[in-house]
Amino acid sequence: MKTIIEPFRIKMTEPIKLTSKSERIAALKKAHNNIFLVDAEDCCIDLLTDSGTGAMSTKQWAAMMLGDESYAGSRSWKKFESTIHNITNIKHVFPTHQGRAAESILATTRLKPGDMVPNNSHFDTTRANIEFVGAGAVDLLTDAGLDPALEVPFKGNMDLRKLENFIEETGVEKIPFCMITVTNNTGGGQPVAMENIRAVKEILKKYGIPLVIDACRFAENAYFIHENEAGYENKSLLEIAREMFAYADAATMSCKKDGLANIGGFFICNNDAWAEDFKNLLILKEGFPTYGGLAGRDLEVISVGLMEALEYDYQVYRHATVTYMGEKLEAMGIPFVKPVGGHAVFLDAKAFLPDIPALQYPGVGLVNALYIEGGIRGVELGSVMFGKRDENGVEIPANLDLVRLAFPRRVYTQSHFDYMIEVIEEVWKNREEISGYKITYQPKFLRHFTCHFEQVN
Ligand code: F0G
Repeated sequence: MKTIIEPFRIKMTEPIKLTSKSERIAALKKAHNNIFLVDAEDCCIDLLTDSGTGAMSTKQWAAMMLGDESYAGSRSWKKFESTIHNITNIKHVFPTHQGRAAESILATTRLKPGDMVPNNSHFDTTRANIEFVGAGAVDLLTDAGLDPALEVPFKGNMDLRKLENFIEETGVEKIPFCMITVTNNTGGGQPVAMENIRAVKEILKKYGIPLVIDACRFAENAYFIHENEAGYENKSLLEIAREMFAYADAATMSCKKDGLANIGGFFICNNDAWAEDFKNLLILKEGFPTYGGLAGRDLEVISVGLMEALEYDYQVYRHATVTYMGEKLEAMGIPFVKPVGGHAVFLDAKAFLPDIPALQYPGVGLVNALYIEGGIRGVELGSVMFGKRDENGVEIPANLDLVRLAFPRRVYTQSHFDYMIEVIEEVWKNREEISGYKITYQPKFLRHFTCHFEQVN
């Protein structure tokens, strides 16, 4: 059969409020033209993030009822720990309330001012947690990963030569650990090859630098390895994941992605001293080490979700949805980051709207046009989010102006995807009518969340 069906049927529904164009124009106006300030209810299709927005399975809902809410040493904790041991074979396991809590405690316990942490690309919370303790976060992605139009596999790979040069120039003593993010979210959701993880580990071993995997989308990465890397076609996703973690000394995880849960995260490590320090701060910040800020029922849900994310049929379906959109956009000549990522399609707003200058934020123009046309909520990853200022305070645009359409797991069906594609097509046809924006209010930090925009005519 040609059609890859959703490998589940629907037992419970959540209504979508269908809005008219004039209602959406009013909603956006009320939100000062910033999509983050629009009520979720007013978004027919919400593609703001794939994080914590997935639908749980019957087994997960059933597992919730088994939640053991004991403060210490609960049954649910035992299940959580043994599931993570089964997948990763890493010694110490600590639950956290989400990924950034693991990052924060890792950074606080292992870094000091002046230290440096290389990564293929840091996610923004990872970078912020590293910088918050006075250390530096450096991205060492391959050049291929920086070119949105280049269609090659494994564009999330770390550049090995850049890594080795970076270690030589910085000095081992200033690099307490190196990270690798699978898949590479900020670089378009692109996967990292096993060969690359292995080679990174080889280099780090030579210098005695530990490897920490940011494992948020480890199961999607395992699927890409299965499909596109020689020697892995006959291995299960669980076996592939085990090999990935075999190269890691530690990992941070947001279970809101490939844990198929609405909340949760963890930190794992082999080093006893790292574990001791992590545990002590975990108790202070998150909770006792056997629940770490989560309810027993969350631990149950994550234990089931982590294994469901490694089911091959689920990943085939998930990838088919993303690829389906990519193929339709390609046929219409719409510019996007190629190949499609594991969890999202990234539209290239700069190429979509070439007449809008970078500092009139083409990404915002496109996000708002998609919302007005069809109630789709995407997110700008461009000059509003990543723009910088020079020493005179003059704004410097970001290298890329992208719009991320991130797909919640097991939430939208094929007809939702067909609808999204129709909306994008309509916006593409009328792209000349889209205008840029100027910022009329912005806070000091993380401006994209709360700033106000006004249309430039
Ligand atoms: N690392 C990566 C690669 C992520 O994508 C995220 C979250 C985190 C760490 C932090 O995890 O949200 O549980 O604290 N990404 C979400 C997104 C927010 O929309 O891409 P968290």
